[in-house]
Order: sequence, then structure tokens, then C-alpha cells
Amino acid sequence: MTDISAKIAGVELENCVFNAAGPKDVTLEELEAIAKSASSAITMKSCTLDPRTGNAEPRYYDLPEGSINSMGLPNLGYREYVNFTSVLKQHGKPVVASVSGLKLEDNVEIVSAFNDSEADLIELNLSCPNIAGKPQVCYDFEQSDEVLKQVVRVCKKPIGVKLSPYFDFVHFEQMAEILQKHRIAFATCINSIGNALVIDPEKESVVIKPKGGFGGLGGKYVKYTALANVNKFHELLPEIPIIGCGGVYTGTDVFEFILAGASAVQAGSVFMQQGPDSESVYAKERLRKIGRFHGEIKDV
Ligand code: SIN
Repeated sequence: MTDISAKIAGVELENCVFNAAGPKDVTLEELEAIAKSASSAITMKSCTLDPRTGNAEPRYYDLPEGSINSMGLPNLGYREYVNFTSVLKQHGKPVVASVSGLKLEDNVEIVSAFNDSEADLIELNLSCPNIAGKPQVCYDFEQSDEVLKQVVRVCKKPIGVKLSPYFDFVHFEQMAEILQKHRIAFATCINSIGNALVIDPEKESVVIKPKGGFGGLGGKYVKYTALANVNKFHELLPEIPIIGCGGVYTGTDVFEFILAGASAVQAGSVFMQQGPDSESVYAKERLRKIGRFHGEIKDV
């Protein structure tokens, strides 16, 4: 039988595809639907210290090849997600806690609380583009360094970082140096491309309300940027598993991420649009190719 399993920081995944933090993963009911799907792990919504209703609606809009969102981290507050871990673990899959405190002290408190939970992995989300007045932390290298120093100090679980896309080799190198310095267990590349603007020419208006219509772009529009980020971080940090995320709709997309150097792949927009049972992502013939693939992508 073809082996399409994956291992992230010692945590075994039955197949290399699971859900990205964000789509349909806020409530216990939504998380249990993910638990019952083919997703190999259960990633919970990025949580903050206190519950948040998120940004004003409309805050999500489907596009022909993806989506734009400015959800604003609607979530139940970290205490609920700490409690959910023991329920979710009963489904026999790894549980990934996603942490997105609005300030450093919040991240330290939330990560400390997950130490005593049944979460298997912690993904620190330093890349949410949708909180007005809060720039994406991972574009500020000094701040990222300080946050990781403090958070890693208290964390007793394998902790990774979810990154925004980078577009310049100097920035890849700067962030890679920080991740290596703090012995980060994995990196997830990429979050949505922040502050895109979609305009409806018929209505002569933007399509989402928050931030004057600016939001995170996801789906097929971002796949090639995501592949580049996976490949560059894999080259710079060969010891650290990279989780690919961005524009994964089919088994072929999954295979492309694996070729680029990803150890596993997360599905985001497709979960939002087709639900956690989106069959296309698990297309068997392509996933089987992953089992046969051992090596590096070739030059042309
Ligand atoms: C959101 O809730 O605004 C999306 C989360 C993210 O982009 O990190």
C-alpha cells in the first residue's frame, strides 16, 4: 500500500493533508465534522485571550478562483479550545491548537494554558492580516524574535509558526534565521496574502466591509507564492518541517507542495467552499504519487 503519511515534530499523520486554521473550525460541532472527515489532523481556529465576534459582515467573499476574507479572528476564547482538546482527541487524530494572541503577554498566557491540554502541536499565528491597527507580526523581524523568545520559553509542546508570504530573498533569510535561533518545530507557509482589494464593478463597491474592503486573499491566486515560500524555507531550513498552505484544491496541488519541499499540506479555501469532506483534495491517484516520491524537484 502506498504510504502517504507524514510526521511533524514527532507527531504522526495518517495522510499528509489536514485543515488550515480558519475555515469552519470555530465551534466544537465544526471541529467534530473535521474530526470525522479525511483530514489527518484537527486544526482549531486561531484563538485569542477573550472570545471575539470578529469583524463586521460581510467579511468573507468567494471568488472564481479563491476567496477574500477579513474575519478578524472570531473565536470562543482560548479556554474553550483548551477544553475541546480532550473531546477531539477521542477521534484518534492529532489536534493542532492555533494561537493568535493580540499581544505578547496574551500569547504567553495562551501557550502556557495549552501545555496542560491534549493538543499535540501548537501553531503560533503571527500572520493574521485582519485586525485593524495590528500589523502582521511576522513582517516585523525584531518583534517576531522577541515574541518567539518569550513564547518558546514557556511552551512545553512542539510549537511552529504560521507565516505571511514573503516576496524577497532577504526577508526569507531574516525569518529563517529567527526560526532556527528559537528552534521552532515547524513552519506553516503561507497565511493569506494580506490587504488585497476586490471590487465589484456592477455594484461599484468593495465586496467585504472591514478595513474599507481590504482583506486576505486565498485560494488559487496564492498557490505559486505559497509554493515559493515553502521551497525557500525548506532550502534554508532543511531540518525543520514546512507545512504548505495556499491554493490547495486537488491531490495534484498537494503533490506540487510535496515536490516543493513540504512535509505536509493544509487545505484552507477549499474547506470553506466545499466543507471538510472536499474529496478532490484527497484524490487518490495523485496522493499515491506522493508515496512514490523521494527526492528533490528537478531543474528544467
Ligand atoms: C481571520 O480570522 O481574520 C483569519 C485568520 C488569519 O488570517 O490568520
